[in-house]
Amino acid sequence: PDLFGAERANSKGFDLTHEPTLAAIEKARAPHKDAVWDVTPQVAGFVGTGEAAPMVNPARPGDVVSRVIAASPAAVTAAFDAATPWDAPAGARADILDAAAGAFEAHYGEIFAILTREAGKGLPDAVAELREAADFLRYYASEARRMPDAKARGIWTCISPWNFPLAIFTGQIAAALAAGNAVLAKPAQQSPAIAQLAVRLMHEAGVPTAALQCLPGGGNVGAALTADARVAGVAFTGSTATARKIASSMADHCAPGTPLIAETGGLNAMIVDSTALPEHAVRDIVNGAFRSAGQRCSALRCLYVQDDIADKLLTMLKGAMNTLTLGDPWDLSTDIGPVIDADARTGINAHITQAAGEGRVLHQLAVPGMGEFVAPTIIALDSIAQLEREIFGPVLHVVRFKSQDLNKVIDAINATGYGLTFGLHTRIDDRVETMVNRIDCGNIYVNRDQIGAIVGSQPFGGEGLSGTGPKAGGPQYLPRFTAPRPAIATP
Ligand code: NAD
Ligand code: ALA
Repeated sequence: PDLFGAERANSKGFDLTHEPTLAAIEKARAPHKDAVWDVTPQVAGFVGTGEAAPMVNPARPGDVVSRVIAASPAAVTAAFDAATPWDAPAGARADILDAAAGAFEAHYGEIFAILTREAGKGLPDAVAELREAADFLRYYASEARRMPDAKARGIWTCISPWNFPLAIFTGQIAAALAAGNAVLAKPAQQSPAIAQLAVRLMHEAGVPTAALQCLPGGGNVGAALTADARVAGVAFTGSTATARKIASSMADHCAPGTPLIAETGGLNAMIVDSTALPEHAVRDIVNGAFRSAGQRCSALRCLYVQDDIADKLLTMLKGAMNTLTLGDPWDLSTDIGPVIDADARTGINAHITQAAGEGRVLHQLAVPGMGEFVAPTIIALDSIAQLEREIFGPVLHVVRFKSQDLNKVIDAINATGYGLTFGLHTRIDDRVETMVNRIDCGNIYVNRDQIGAIVGSQPFGGEGLSGTGPKAGGPQYLPRFTAPRPAIATP
């Protein structure tokens, strides 16, 4: 059993240090290197028509990855009309979700190829993402078995971001289905091909087509899927700004009290004090701030480093950054891939340009000549309070602090109102307890990098502006997708 008593095991994943495994992955993903996926709405009894828009690889602008027919208003109407909660017994639903997990793992070649070409994921990230998606399917399946009498709520709208386009997309859907609901899934407009494949594999595993429908498209499609009285709940992961819009739309259109699970952004800090091991801290700062091109909700955005060791740590950090290779994430030698699209690149670069104008850029790498690359950059700040928004890319802000100001540092971090991840590097044992008690956030990482989560043992989610909870991959998640059973009175 896992930490919460569920009888299941997480996916074994792929050992990328094992040569035969790597060779098998290369062979399996090679046929998909130049493929183009045709994406259409997956709506029961409905055929999407209209002009298909090309989506390109953010690392290689000439590489068309998919042609997408987005969901029209007619597709949305048809999906609501067809949506039918999944009324199979909990055990049967769980068996099908388990089978879907196996199908995901069996399709690793195509999945890795799409994750790399559509979403800019390097192979280690793609492997982790496939594992997490399979883990979510099996975990919520085991939760369904644990709660066989749970009552479905009805139609759930599941809206997901592009930065975990398989894992988060699948996790929301798996939970809603495990509880017997019908799902209207809306993937991010940047990552429709991986979503279509995931839904196809779930259908092939036995999920009824009327219980799981997928509507590719942009914010307008998401807005339509949250503005209907038939919506019994919304699971959303994305920016805090979009969560506010969804909450407002639901207040106008859905029954009062309709649940909204919103997992949103963060201004994630790490404190490194003078007792930290600098080599370990530098490794974890580089991973947390720059890995995945900084495009993780959990990523380190603001490093507080104690003055006594700041010069040494920054010198080592710049040296470590200089060893990073930017390039096409398909190449195994690449450490940092592109950001998701031109809009993201422009927005992040505007922030860097402003900092450069103020003389606050401490270090920066060069970028490849083409593709949506942003230069990994370190920016000096006086306080996290100067960060007005989440910068969703490879940009690390650094603030020096004096030992006597530690309480003010904690107050400043809490005052942002966000509360997703927090990192601490220290060798003072009771400092860990102090931080756990004082920092307002969902996930704390001590003497390691502050990214990643493990389904069933390290549930993930934020508080305040970072989310509503319950944490994904934890025991409180599935119950939110269920309705109370009727209370029965007899004479
Ligand atoms: P986003 O908010 O721009 O989009 C997320 C989804 O919402 C997309 O599918 C989008 O099409 C849809 N959407 C946009 N406008 C909508 C509207 N008015 N109504 C309904 N749906 C709408 O976010 P993004 O750029 O895709 O993702 C990055 C963000 O997600 C970052 O802020 C990141 O921190 C956050 N994130 C949070 C977590 C977490 O677990 N807390 C995990 C991953 C990403
Ligand atoms: N999904 C988040 C990450 O991997 C927790 O960083």
